[in-house]
Amino acid sequence: MQIFLDTADAALISAHAETGLVDGVTTNPSLVAKAGGDFITGLTNICAAVDGPVSAEVVATDAATMIAEGQKLRTVADNIVVKLPLTFEGLKACAALTADGHPTNVTLCFSVAQALLAAKAGATFVSPFIGRLDDRGEDGLGLIQRIRAVYDEYGYETRILAASIRSVEHVEGSALAGADACTIPPAIFEKMIQHDLTDAGLAAFLKDWEASGRGAI
Ligand code: E4P
Repeated sequence: MQIFLDTADAALISAHAETGLVDGVTTNPSLVAKAGGDFITGLTNICAAVDGPVSAEVVATDAATMIAEGQKLRTVADNIVVKLPLTFEGLKACAALTADGHPTNVTLCFSVAQALLAAKAGATFVSPFIGRLDDRGEDGLGLIQRIRAVYDEYGYETRILAASIRSVEHVEGSALAGADACTIPPAIFEKMIQHDLTDAGLAAFLKDWEASGRGAI
């Protein structure tokens, strides 16, 4: 499963990309607003920090303007993926941009029916929002499983990008459910590395090494 970072903070992305574990980035208008600064400059910096896909979202609500915005975003860097909302107009724009050879990410997906339409529109990625479904008592991870089953049944190539991740358990569940990628807030990416038994085990190993009188290797 690919790991994307869900943030528009270019400095954080650069720092985490140093692990070699970051396969891509997703942004959205809220994350861009939070990061501040000039949108295109920030996006350029993000695209330079990672080799993989960087989703940048349109803000228009009609297909013609979404397409124009998408074409403009695609001039920022080769690894830009045009992110479009799962609306009637967004699906129209997705089909048009796909036909022109642009990669797309259809976002704000909350049902199998929506995911089916995103695949039929030729989306490169579909982004089911797990956390927002869980927030209102629904089964976010179950949605990933059901979309996986439908895509496999019909051979759709649209990649399932699990989004709205709230916990390490969401990442693990997405992997188990067959998501192709998971976009993760940096704080949760850091938590994925941690385990109390890792910390305790390392402390014991280093203590025993020191007690043996051996120095640096
Ligand atoms: C996905 O691409 C979105 O940027 C993101 O995952 C939304 O998550 P949220 O529900 O935490 O805002």
